[in-house]
Amino acid sequence: MTKTLTLMALAIAFISHAVGAATLEVKNGESIQEAITRAQVGDTIRVYPGIYEETVYVDKDNITLQGVIENGEWPTLEGNKQLNDAILYSGNGFSVEWFKITHYKGNAIMGQAGNNFSIRNNWIIDTGVYGIFPEFGENGLIENNILSGIEDAAIYVGMCDHIDVRNNRVFDNVAGIEIENSRHALVEGNIAHNNTGGILVFITPGLPIKTSYDAIIRRNTIINNNTPNFAIPGSLVSNIPAGTGVLVLAGDDVVIEDNIISGNNTAGIIITSQDFATDVAGDPQSDPNPDRVQIRDNVMYDNGNDPVTDVRALMLTQLSTKGPDILAYNAAADAERGSCISQKTAYRTYGLDDWGVCARTTVRAADAVASVAPPPNTSRGVTSKMREEPAEPRVITVDANGAELVYQGICAGCHTLNVRMIGPPVLAIQAQYGDDVEAIARYIAAPEKNRPDFPTMPPQNHLSEAMRLEVGRYMLSLNR
Ligand code: HEC
Repeated sequence: MTKTLTLMALAIAFISHAVGAATLEVKNGESIQEAITRAQVGDTIRVYPGIYEETVYVDKDNITLQGVIENGEWPTLEGNKQLNDAILYSGNGFSVEWFKITHYKGNAIMGQAGNNFSIRNNWIIDTGVYGIFPEFGENGLIENNILSGIEDAAIYVGMCDHIDVRNNRVFDNVAGIEIENSRHALVEGNIAHNNTGGILVFITPGLPIKTSYDAIIRRNTIINNNTPNFAIPGSLVSNIPAGTGVLVLAGDDVVIEDNIISGNNTAGIIITSQDFATDVAGDPQSDPNPDRVQIRDNVMYDNGNDPVTDVRALMLTQLSTKGPDILAYNAAADAERGSCISQKTAYRTYGLDDWGVCARTTVRAADAVASVAPPPNTSRGVTSKMREEPAEPRVITVDANGAELVYQGICAGCHTLNVRMIGPPVLAIQAQYGDDVEAIARYIAAPEKNRPDFPTMPPQNHLSEAMRLEVGRYMLSLNR
């Protein structure tokens, strides 16, 4: 009797659990946002083919947005060059897959401090400044997406930890894949072609996270990245020379291995310091130099056929009119910097005279790369890490600490201290607002269009009034 009861209780528990995670359906003519408003934590929202002209905000945990493709017809998020963003998420455990997203002005998919996310199998065309842009998130997977026509970075990992970017195809963008102020990134098996620059590891000065280290760029195909730079003038990526395969700017502990890199007209790989972006002010809290870069066993040919003026001038000092396969510029490998290259004589190089030879087996601090045996090919993917130890959800309180999280997770995606990003620099905002915290809180709840050369800022009325005040206070206090 007791046993039956226990079994029944178990069965009921099981059923109610299964019922707990519902599946909601959205058909052409309906609204995805409306389904998200109805959804509970853990639900899946299936979206059928059709045109959805909206911005979707996901601020609940464990929501899955799943496109359904029928006879080659995709559910399409269409911004008509009117809307800024297609999908903005801040919940943890968010998944989005099988959407076509096009004609937005800001972002296709932007994460604001959501952890444990997965963004897969989407097709993103001409969505403005960024394509896929997780910011300030931990543990994420970005795979099998196709992105083109983005005027800054197609895949932009900003201030994140433990992100895998795998098997994506990026073309006709300014930057194909950009890892910025992020730690523990794996960029593997992607195809980056016909961008201005293919794959980049960057430190942008003036952001709250000051470092970028431990990136592996492995087994990618990086070809013909010669598209003229069409970024917003003054943005950091407007400094990328057309014809760049891989660019490491101030990033540390970057491994570039087993890639195919060819047909990039300035250089296959450029390793450089912050000095490279001459119009961008440095950050005293960021080390401007790239340290411990390893370049191993890449197949490189036919790079440097038509280098940009500055690189041409450098190469002329070596009596060459071609750009190099590999250029180290202000990136000397002195003892402390410890950069290395294997098979150096296989490549045309500039500025690598004092680089060491990479040992074939390198045990890196945080983990083991494929070259370490046994076991062979230990993959370092976040997917296993996600299963073992999902990151703690962030708890956001309405005080200075919470404001810092909101600022870093949301505002810093568009505002940095002294560099123009999507929005104006914080120093300019501070000059305009002085100490008027209330005025900022009012503005961000319902932004007006003030500057003709900037897009309109998305409203932040998802934040409570008290939080808007805290964030305004935080913004005005930055670095003062
Ligand atoms: C998706 C990008 C984006 C995000 C996220 C963003 N902003 Fe903005 N912000 C902008 C843009 C673009 C402008 C310029 C708008 C204009 O002038 O029309 C702007 C302008 C501003 C201004 C100047 C307003 C004025 O008087 O002209 C303030 C203040 C501001 N943002 C605060 C914030 C705060 C605080 C946050 C975070 C809660 C934030 N922004 C998040 C893009 C963004």
